[in-house]
Amino acid sequence: MPPTFDSDPRPSFPSVLTFDSGVGGLSVAAEIRKLLPGLRLIYASDHAFLPYGEKTEAQLIDRVPALLSVLEARFQPEIVVIACNTASTVVLPAVREALMAQIVGTVPAIKPAAALTKTKVIGLLGTPGTVRRTYTQDLIDEFASDCICVRHGSVELVTLAEAKLRGEPVSLEAVRAAVAPLFAQEHGERIDVVVLACTHFPLLADELAAVSPPGVRFSESGAAIARRVKTLLGPDRVLDKGPSPVGPAIVTRGDNIAALEPALARFGFAPLEVLDFSRS
Ligand code: DGL
Repeated sequence: MPPTFDSDPRPSFPSVLTFDSGVGGLSVAAEIRKLLPGLRLIYASDHAFLPYGEKTEAQLIDRVPALLSVLEARFQPEIVVIACNTASTVVLPAVREALMAQIVGTVPAIKPAAALTKTKVIGLLGTPGTVRRTYTQDLIDEFASDCICVRHGSVELVTLAEAKLRGEPVSLEAVRAAVAPLFAQEHGERIDVVVLACTHFPLLADELAAVSPPGVRFSESGAAIARRVKTLLGPDRVLDKGPSPVGPAIVTRGDNIAALEPALARFGFAPLEVLDFSRS
C-alpha cells in the first residue's frame, strides 16, 4: 500500500498542486509522478465550471486565481502547476500576482512541433479558447514562423476524455468526427505533427492515433512541465525515488464527479473531496 499524505513519513517533503478544469491535468500529473515519484502531489479540478474552452477570458481571470487562492491556503503547496492550456494562456499573470507559490503554466507545445515537422505543416488541436488566443499566436510567430499552422478547437474531445475517465465507452467514430475538421482544412492533408494543445487530449492518445492519417506524430507538454517542476525544486531534493504517496483529489461540485473516483485513484489521487466554490 502506498502511503497517504497523513501516513507519509516525510511530511516536510515539498508538495505540488496540479490544477485543471477537469481530468485533463491527470495527463500532466502522470508525467510529474513518473519523473519525481517521491513528490507529494495534490490534484484539483474545477468540474463546476468545465469546460474552460467555452468561457471568456474575463470569466477565467475572475475565477481561477480566486479558486487557486483557496486551494493554496488549504494545502500550502510549494509549486502550483496549472495543467490547463486554456487557463494558462490567459490567467498566468493574475495567478502569479494572487499566489505565494511558484507557478508553472502549460502552453501549447508548438516549439517542439516545429522542430519535428518535415512537411512544415503543423496541426494545432486545442479548445476553442486556446486556438484563438493571442498568446498562442505569439508562440506560433516566435517558434513556428516557417510553418503553416492549421487550427481546430474542439469541446467534443474534452467531453469524450471526461467520459472515458468516468469509465464510459468512447467510440472511435466520435473521436474521428471531432478530429476530422482539422485535416479537412486547406493544407490539412500535409499535417505531419499535431500539437495536443489541451491536457485532456493525451488521455485519448490511442484513439487520436487510430483516427489520424498514418505517420502523424503528436506533440504535448506534459514531460516538459515535469522537467520544469524538477528544475524549480532544485538539485538537492531527492524526489526521483518512491514511495509515491497517494494525494488528495479536490473537485469543485459538478455533474457525475463521483464516477471519476476510480480513475483518480488509478492516477494516485484519493480520497475525492467535493468543494463548493462559487463566484458571485
Ligand atoms: N484541459 C484544458 C486545457 O488544457 C481544457 C479543458 C476545458 O475546456 O475545460 O486546455
